[in-house]
Amino acid sequence: MRFAEVKQIAEILKREGAVDFFNCMVGRMDTEITLVEENMPGMSRPLAPYLETVGVFRREIGMPIFHAARVTDVANARHAVREGVLDMVAMTRAHIADPQIVNKIMRGEEDRIRPCIGASHCIYKKIHCIHNPVSGRETLLPMEVSASDTPGKKVIVVGGGPAGMEAARVAAERGHKVILFEAAPRLGGQIQLAAKTTWRKDLIQIVDWREGELEKLGVDVRCNIYAEAADILAENPDHVFVATGGIPAEQNLPGAGLTVSSWDLLSGDMRAEQEVLVCDHTGRHEPVATADLLSAKGHQVTMATIDSHSATEMGYPDRMIFHKRLAEQGVNTLAYLKLSAVHKDGNRLVATLTHELTGQTQEITTDQVVLETGTDPLAEVFFELREGSANKGITDVDAMANWSAQPQTHIESYTLHRLGDAVTSRSIHAALLEAYRLAVHI
Ligand SMILES: Cc1cc2nc3c(=O)[nH]c(=O)nc-3n(C[C@H](O)[C@H](O)[C@H](O)COP(=O)(O)OP(=O)(O)OC[C@H]3O[C@@H](n4cnc5c(N)ncnc54)[C@H](O)[C@@H]3O)c2cc1C
Ligand SMILES: Cc1cc2nc3c(=O)[nH]c(=O)nc-3n(C[C@H](O)[C@H](O)[C@H](O)COP(=O)(O)O)c2cc1C
Ligand code: SF4
Repeated sequence: MRFAEVKQIAEILKREGAVDFFNCMVGRMDTEITLVEENMPGMSRPLAPYLETVGVFRREIGMPIFHAARVTDVANARHAVREGVLDMVAMTRAHIADPQIVNKIMRGEEDRIRPCIGASHCIYKKIHCIHNPVSGRETLLPMEVSASDTPGKKVIVVGGGPAGMEAARVAAERGHKVILFEAAPRLGGQIQLAAKTTWRKDLIQIVDWREGELEKLGVDVRCNIYAEAADILAENPDHVFVATGGIPAEQNLPGAGLTVSSWDLLSGDMRAEQEVLVCDHTGRHEPVATADLLSAKGHQVTMATIDSHSATEMGYPDRMIFHKRLAEQGVNTLAYLKLSAVHKDGNRLVATLTHELTGQTQEITTDQVVLETGTDPLAEVFFELREGSANKGITDVDAMANWSAQPQTHIESYTLHRLGDAVTSRSIHAALLEAYRLAVHI
């Protein structure tokens, strides 16, 4: 429907006295791509994309206007209301990310609002937010972290990816003394790689917000330290969380040493060649993000995926944007193909791919082969600390499943838990949820 037609309908409704206000939505919602780009725009779109259109409608109709579409920050919301662009801004997902927005504004704590980053996890995993593990679990977990009955415990967190940052944040909110060791110069773990693709850059706000909170809560963050068991024991801890993440999974197919991982290329540790074959064995973000970034930079990229299409493991909001970008950038995606071997042919590589359904093989000659199979846990430090811990490193899964505290142990030692990808290759939300539900009870 065109603007002129919408205006005509609105004028009739106004004349008839049938409405007190208009709730303005812009765009379509009849397909997955229009849902995620127009109706519920996410991080691939700019903030507040429709304020101008809505403002014109309000001026021309002269009635109160409500509006919701990626007005996620207080600055844009305040501007829209103050300048008379609209009368009430909904900020739907912004409240899913942080239901305390209004209280925080009233307390003068705007900088502590957990930002809605437009990750759209809440759209398909109703109504869980990618970085607020409590949203949608309000009856199971406390939205506000309360002070511990036994504050002042020494908590050591190893690894400053999402899992470690969340464990450190929640433990500090509980009133404990927290030290966070991170091997890299910066916090964030794999999110630093995930945020490399242009349209995914807002993922970094998951890190930035937590970094700000850790500072405010007085967490002792020690970067550039690859912590070993001795470093942790030297702190005489009461609780240890090992959130050391993973590393690209070991490959055992013939010629595996000729392949590279998405980490190699996204981190800039290795140079991408002109012609690249990306082999997607997971259906997750890493392979499509690599194909997206490389093709955007002008490399000639082919994707081979073991599924019927790439990005099968993610929800439609991310999948649709990746598919659109890959199509626009001319990436050819081949379905049902699994990399089975690689060999050299002069200075080129020949990839043998096996069809998942028929077992037939085919070869593709290229300059570089990216093989993506997820991560293997990096948990040496956990195994070194396990024997000396009070709980032998065991996380009681029944207690976890019941959303309750871990069983008390009467042994005079530290408790030890593993979090996030240090357990197994998973996601940001899984890492944060695991950290929250364990740390909130100590
Ligand atoms: C390119 C890419 C894109 C991705 N996109 C998404 C996405 O869109 N959505 C999603 O949900 N997931 C995504 N993921 C996966 C997600 O980032 C991970 O599942 C998540 O970061 C795991 O969190 P973690 O804290 O357990 O581990 P990590 O993020 O791996 O962090 C572990 C940290 O521990 C540090 N460390 C390790 N050993 C030590 C030690 N001994 N001492 C001190 N520090 C140590 C590491 O340096 C690292 O910073 C993506 C991953 C990649 C690589
Ligand atoms: C989890 C979730 C559930 C929603 N359910 C409805 C619904 O039942 N009816 C509706 O009209 N809109 C629904 N919406 C859309 C919102 O009302 C809003 O239009 C949309 O999220 C864009 O606004 P925002 O950018 O402020 O989130 C839902 C949105 C989310 C994230
Ligand atoms: S998952 Fe969270 S951050 Fe992402 S759009 Fe939904 S509320 Fe916002």
